[in-house]
Amino acid sequence: MTFAFEFSNVQFRYDGLSDCALCGLTVAIPPGEKIAVLGRNGSGKSTFFLHCNGLLRPQYGEIRFGGKPLSYARADLRQLRRRVGIVFQNPDDQLFSASVGQDISFGPLNLGFSSAETEERVRQAAELCGVTHLLDRPTHALSGGEKARVAMAGVLAMEPSVLLADELLSAIDPWARLDIFDILQTLYDRGTTILLATHDLSVVRYWATYVIVLQKGKIAFSGTPAQLLQNSSVLEATELSKIWWNVDMTVEE
Ligand SMILES: Nc1ncnc2c1ncn2[C@@H]1O[C@H](COP(=O)(O)OP(=O)(O)O)[C@@H](O)[C@H]1O
Ligand SMILES: [Mg+2]
Repeated sequence: MTFAFEFSNVQFRYDGLSDCALCGLTVAIPPGEKIAVLGRNGSGKSTFFLHCNGLLRPQYGEIRFGGKPLSYARADLRQLRRRVGIVFQNPDDQLFSASVGQDISFGPLNLGFSSAETEERVRQAAELCGVTHLLDRPTHALSGGEKARVAMAGVLAMEPSVLLADELLSAIDPWARLDIFDILQTLYDRGTTILLATHDLSVVRYWATYVIVLQKGKIAFSGTPAQLLQNSSVLEATELSKIWWNVDMTVEE
């Protein structure tokens, strides 16, 4: 199997900070899975995502995408960002155009697609994300759930093979989450590799097919949800047992 991503001993420190954000992160991400990315605030989840699409570059170590080392040449980065899309934690960081339609068009236009091709991609992505009726709306006049779906549409208009969703669920209500899970399921059925940063046990138990847990810039666990939920020593060591103490941990294989 060719992994979607392979990180080998990746280290990264933000300017001026003494602590590393990624401190020798080694992990292999299987393709075509629904992957929950766990870890408390500051454990490195967002920094990990930013390395996956080349927005940040390792200061040490190596990243492979589809078996090949990442190249940071301009044209290669463009290609990478077309294939690996990020939905940021805060949709307001993502949405900056005046209208929803302009916002969703931004990615494809920026990647050099013709206006006809862009239009078609926007139409399809908007339909998938249920935002067709919002295309002429100003982006600031949307609800949280609508913003999340518009942010997703903007990324999906580039038809990425990997979707990185950074704590996308934290700012939206449970009904809006259902919409997001419907979209993610459609993408999964098409073969998209999905990484979702979350703290939600039900996501791990009922949605994820694979889980990685970050702790202090390293991987504390990678494996199936069942392997994680049955491993009390990992749950203790990662402090997940502290937030999941009151739930029944039985899980089907
Ligand atoms: N833009 C930034 N500048 C400086 N330090 C940062 C920045 N983003 C994150 N960090 C630091 O890097 C570490 C990892 O953060 P982050 O990747 O955001 O973790 P998570 O997404 O799991 O909360 C934290 O110590 C955080 O304070
Ligand atoms: Mg984060």
